[in-house]
Amino acid sequence: AQPVIVDCDPGHDDALALLLAVGDPRLRLLGVTTVAGNQTLDKTTRNALKMLALAGVTDVPVAAGCDRPLVGDLSVAEYIHGASGLDGPDLDLPVAEVADVHAVELMRREIMGSTEPVTLVALGPLTNVALLLRRHPEVAPRLHRIVFMGGSTDRGNTTPYGEFNIVTDPEAADIVLRSGLPTTMIGLNVTHQALATAEVIAEFRGLGTRLGAVCAELMTFFASTYLREFGLADPPVHDPIAVAAVIDAAIVRTVAAPVVVELTGTHTRGATVVDLHGRTGRAPNVDVAVGLDVDAFWRLLMAAVRRLGAA
Ligand code: BDR
Ligand code: CA
Repeated sequence: AQPVIVDCDPGHDDALALLLAVGDPRLRLLGVTTVAGNQTLDKTTRNALKMLALAGVTDVPVAAGCDRPLVGDLSVAEYIHGASGLDGPDLDLPVAEVADVHAVELMRREIMGSTEPVTLVALGPLTNVALLLRRHPEVAPRLHRIVFMGGSTDRGNTTPYGEFNIVTDPEAADIVLRSGLPTTMIGLNVTHQALATAEVIAEFRGLGTRLGAVCAELMTFFASTYLREFGLADPPVHDPIAVAAVIDAAIVRTVAAPVVVELTGTHTRGATVVDLHGRTGRAPNVDVAVGLDVDAFWRLLMAAVRRLGAA
């Protein structure tokens, strides 16, 4: 199985991504690290612990990382994910202890200790990942790839041109995109194709397990906030697509392209500027997802949740 570390800020879609990462036998989850984003760090960390506990996973360390972006203040997405960061289901259950090391240290240890190159899957603001690359450059040759959910080839969701994870910490994203490491971007242009429709929610419920019911309740809450904030009846399930792309590369179609983060724009700070047509003459630095096999994605996710529920 491929060794992976998931850095996340759960978050409804991060929660499903964690289930996919622990529920698919093709991945070996070395650790989960958390970052401030959808909610404050204490909440995203607690939510990660809750999802692992629900999935019956007790042997994966969870470490908390940065509690704010590299520059500026944190602005959470409570309007989407609620006061807890994971509103909807009743998630009152005993959880494991958080590791007594910083996320960046857990990442370093796991990457340096792995016999195989590790894939880093980043599902929140890139603060922890940027700090890792700056503080421990020795990890670079031991990384297989960084796959992140963030950005877009077109418009944004937090500002007209900025996607939440990149807008929350543009400097961190800039560090990652200029790192020279193999990087895959799973942006809104593909994640908005994977919608938690009423049929998807019914399928989760139909699994007949507690985990299936929790997924249904998570997506029902997520649907209500997406409807209120964006007028979308079926919410896009962003983060699990990054995990799915690691499990089976054929799930997304990518093109190599130059991507930069706008750091100074008057109205566009945090936008990902993706040069799909080679207009800038810059060398490609990112494999940009431009297509998604939506049915294959849902099959993967459902199979993982089914497998975990039966465990
Ligand atoms: C991203 O922002 C967060 O709200 C989601 O968890 C996802 O990672 C989508 O823009
Ligand atoms: Ca996220």
